[in-house]
Amino acid sequence: MPMAGSDISGFHKLDIDERLKRVKEFSGLSDEDVKILKTDPFDIHAANKMVENVIGTIELPLAVATNFLINGKDYLIPMAIEESSVVAAASHAAKLTRPAGGFWVTSDPPLMIGQIQLVNVPSIIGAMEKISASKQELIESTAKHGSVLLSLGGGLKDIETKEIETSEGKMLIVHLIVDVRDAMGANAVNTLSEQLAPRLEELSGGKALLKIVSNLSTRRVVKAKAVWKKEVLEASFDPGSIKSEEIIDSIISAWNFAKADPWRCATHQKGIMNGIDAVVIATGNDWRAVEAGVHGYCRLKNEPSTKFHKDFRGNLVGEIEAPISMGLVGGATRVNPVPGVCLKILGVKSAQELAQIAACVGLANNFAALRALATEGIQKGHMKLHAYNIAVTAGAHGELIDMIASRMIQEGKVSVTRAKELMKELEPRLKRYSHKLFGQH
Ligand code: MEV
Repeated sequence: MPMAGSDISGFHKLDIDERLKRVKEFSGLSDEDVKILKTDPFDIHAANKMVENVIGTIELPLAVATNFLINGKDYLIPMAIEESSVVAAASHAAKLTRPAGGFWVTSDPPLMIGQIQLVNVPSIIGAMEKISASKQELIESTAKHGSVLLSLGGGLKDIETKEIETSEGKMLIVHLIVDVRDAMGANAVNTLSEQLAPRLEELSGGKALLKIVSNLSTRRVVKAKAVWKKEVLEASFDPGSIKSEEIIDSIISAWNFAKADPWRCATHQKGIMNGIDAVVIATGNDWRAVEAGVHGYCRLKNEPSTKFHKDFRGNLVGEIEAPISMGLVGGATRVNPVPGVCLKILGVKSAQELAQIAACVGLANNFAALRALATEGIQKGHMKLHAYNIAVTAGAHGELIDMIASRMIQEGKVSVTRAKELMKELEPRLKRYSHKLFGQH
């Protein structure tokens, strides 16, 4: 059980060891877990066991987003990403949801779809009837193989058929609906699809060509929602600079732009995937599969993954709906121990809970991008963070970081050289000031 909330104030100002200490306390990590994060034991030999022709490994920064309250539970969320501002944006967006209770999220059970393509079927209607009549026999036949999935309550749950029209004529497509429990599930689904294909050929009189998972996992959809109170939104800007109504209306207009225009929609989705992918990667999951699913679902629905509107009180409501297939077991977690520690930081109990978290981060990042783009633009925030990082690089710590960053922004000159000069100037003043306030000790 977490010892405290995830709203750790000033987390970004701590040094790496202090941050690790806080995360360790929050998530109950062991010394060994902390060592894994610090030494990153995913070396070339481990990598060589995963893919072919290995010549090295490539690293990404691993950070945690703070402030997430999801279904009443606090989370620190590991995010692996190379782009600056994304973790800060997610944390800030999450902070602004807290006065209204954070994020609320539901999800479907972990059902994946396997597709079997049957061609040259003499009578598609007749084949559909035969497959439907043999459903129970087909489901029971998969139990013979005694997979781990079955022992956990998963396995093949249903079989659906459909006829599709293609440029080379009609095809019969069979969908296997498979409960994959805490796995991402592609392997299990592919195995089942290949196992059942010969019997489906017999029943249909056709030939089974493709037997493969669908990444458009429409039976595994996550829906999340958050409210940003109007007064909280207004207070997140410089005092008196903008009214809440203007902020909210501008965010809704930005969303309408994405809904109506594919070029904007792609970038809108990119902002969502900044958050989702970073969680998917940190936890060792297949981000290409999640990307394919999320974008396929948008195409199916003909709208972006998120929606923004106003509630009757005039607050901003944001929602996300997306198929997110992530697992707690298998994949990279077996060879690379870092994703395992990330799952411990999250303290998740199921793959569904993990997917729910990723969806909330996607919504948070999308909100943060629209909030900035529809008002002051994103460069101001980027510049602040950049100046902050430069101050840290120059060796500043504590209060000094903010002082140096603000001065550099004011002067319009952000560089390590300038940060060092300012450190020389401001550090003695800060020391004199603390001395006056707190005396020698
Ligand atoms: C940059 O990584 C993401 C944004 O372009 C998203 C958006 O435009 O909504 C800021």
